[in-house]
Amino acid sequence: MLSVQENERLTQVGPGTPMGELLRRYWHPIAASAELDDNPVKEVKLLGESLVLYRDRSGQLGLIGDRCPHRGVSMLFGIPEVEGLRCPYHGWMFDQTGQCIEMPAEPADSTFPCRVKMEGYPVQELTGLIFAYLGPAPVPLLPRWDLFVWDNVLRDTGSVVIPCNWLQIMENSLDPVHVEWLHGRFSDYVLERQGRSDLQRQFYRAGKVGGNGAHRKIGFDAFEYGIIKRRVVEGGSEQAPEWRIGHPILFPNILRVGSNFQYRVPVDDKQTLHIWFTAYPQPPETEVPKQDTIPYYEVPLPFDERGRVDWSKLDNNSGQDIVAWVTQGAINNRSRERLGDSDQGIIMYRRMLQQQLAIVESGGEPMNVFRDAEHNKRIDLPWEGNEDPWGFARKSLMRRTGQAGKYAPVLREMVAKFEGELVLEGPVH
Ligand code: FES
Ligand SMILES: [Fe+2]
Repeated sequence: MLSVQENERLTQVGPGTPMGELLRRYWHPIAASAELDDNPVKEVKLLGESLVLYRDRSGQLGLIGDRCPHRGVSMLFGIPEVEGLRCPYHGWMFDQTGQCIEMPAEPADSTFPCRVKMEGYPVQELTGLIFAYLGPAPVPLLPRWDLFVWDNVLRDTGSVVIPCNWLQIMENSLDPVHVEWLHGRFSDYVLERQGRSDLQRQFYRAGKVGGNGAHRKIGFDAFEYGIIKRRVVEGGSEQAPEWRIGHPILFPNILRVGSNFQYRVPVDDKQTLHIWFTAYPQPPETEVPKQDTIPYYEVPLPFDERGRVDWSKLDNNSGQDIVAWVTQGAINNRSRERLGDSDQGIIMYRRMLQQQLAIVESGGEPMNVFRDAEHNKRIDLPWEGNEDPWGFARKSLMRRTGQAGKYAPVLREMVAKFEGELVLEGPVH
């Protein structure tokens, strides 16, 4: 249980709030590169700030304020020029730092443009994702986590904005037991309500063997980049990868499951951009085609147009998780919760957040801020497939079709191509 004040401290993300300041020490993904292909200007809301992301005609990315400082027209309708974004109303132009560089209707020798500047934040692109940094200088390195730099893999990325606070989504990642219930018993109840046959329900249950079984033991360890979550499920042992290797939670807001990242990026206090990014190992000795763009997909929310839960979209892990997160309330009121022994991971994660908040408040640098380029060439994380990537992929692909992966284009192609070789088991979050 947290007091109302403690809950606000952990959930509010706007400028000047304690958590807002901590989260501003990190690069956050704000869009897939492919999202700018059709329309090079995109509305972005990040940590409570309303911004516009654009790619100009020289290919340079910019992230600037969403209102023209002249008379307030939305820069979302800006015109990307060779270098910068031009306001549609009177043609003022801004570079990627937010500096006004042209005022066509002012005298040619006017110094007025030099004195007009709006927000402009650093943006970087890495393997199909665009990241932004809203924090203080010096700007840290954009972390090159292993999935972004592996060779011989195919990748895709998807996203959706979820109407709730980021923390309840992250806390779900420190909560192994929910898998057995929400994605086990409740999942089966969903299929029953959908009128699925016994055979279909058996197939779904079979897919959950080894992951969604009853939890016999859970454990959490702090490690260099966050927390490792471990579990022993019925019929398993501490030799099984679920315990021996576990799944990393990267501080402050990334879950790693198998070869998939899930980023929980606060849009504001009541909305979270959820991004899935997957690297798919390929069979050994195959020529892996180069991907010019990383395919992007949207994940539907499991709600109808009136905001009611849509049971037809609940037959997959992501739909089930999203309903659990959103129905906790826009910001979960933790002054009313009752935590038990099975919530030890959540308690540990909150402590880690508190510790890192205190570090920032006392002028220090929190964990996972990288400044050593050598170390950042590739940051390897523990994962079950290290020794046999394709063997691991064979086991986890079918399972991912039950998650957001059912919408993922690369996954769907691989499942179609390797049907018959795939195994219906593998890691769960
Ligand atoms: S409102 Fe943007 S140039 Fe006038
Ligand atoms: Fe889940």
